[in-house]
Amino acid sequence: MTKIFYKIADIQAYLLQFSYKQVGFVPTMGALHAGHESLILASKKQNDLTICSIYVNPTQFNNPEDLKKYPRTLPEDIEKLEKIACDIIFIPSNEEMYPKNPSLTFNFGNLESVMEGKFRQGHFNGVATVVSKLFHIIKPNRTYFGQKDLQQTQIISLLIKDLSFGIELVCCPTLREKDGLAMSSRNLRLNPQHRNIAPRIYQAMLLAQELVFSQKDINFAKKQAIDFLSQEINFVLDYFEIVDCQTLGEINEQTEEIAICVAAFLGGVRLIDNLLIKR
Ligand code: PAF
Repeated sequence: MTKIFYKIADIQAYLLQFSYKQVGFVPTMGALHAGHESLILASKKQNDLTICSIYVNPTQFNNPEDLKKYPRTLPEDIEKLEKIACDIIFIPSNEEMYPKNPSLTFNFGNLESVMEGKFRQGHFNGVATVVSKLFHIIKPNRTYFGQKDLQQTQIISLLIKDLSFGIELVCCPTLREKDGLAMSSRNLRLNPQHRNIAPRIYQAMLLAQELVFSQKDINFAKKQAIDFLSQEINFVLDYFEIVDCQTLGEINEQTEEIAICVAAFLGGVRLIDNLLIKR
């Protein structure tokens, strides 16, 4: 049976009995979809105990309107997690997570100065703060993140290494709707017209991928993909980048994997996606 905890002290007291077991942890902000479920199922395969947290973390939102509008579907989320037999759900309050404003800040260098970091000032500081707190509270053996948030996954990987958390990071593939749109909690906020055109993001990335393969010219591929997206006036592009998957910087001889990364607004809803190409 799924157990639900709201308090740090309660979940920690309960977890004491599992100190010799393998614990898998999936942090989320709720509005769960099949992508989240795939992370829970991956954790259940590899661990004795799977914990999912649901917490809309205010410190990672640079835009108060975005925080207010972030979809919240707690009863449905709990039902979904019970259905797939997630062992524990942790649902802390703001008072529990932030009894005072955090004083520490993180600096992830180039990893946080590009793409999401450039357009969402302070976002990764908030993510790293809350994820560090959750890691300390839960002390998992493994943690599961989705490839859709590629930059976040790279930042968490660095956080785990630099702070010696000793947690294995498992990056799970992006799940897509039939028409190619990456699954995301924010898709719930798209109106029907915008939902129809949203898959163009995936189509633009496929076009770029094809051109990277056939023309071997990154700038040309990028320009063609941007032109393709811009034909649909409803898209307001934040960035379309083709970068080294590890450094998120320029591609060079050492690049083993290329990442095509996009962020665009559609009717006020910000969507991100990426495709990886092995070299
Ligand atoms: O990816 C998310 O949903 C959030 O950034 C995370 C990792 C749960 C931290 O709030």
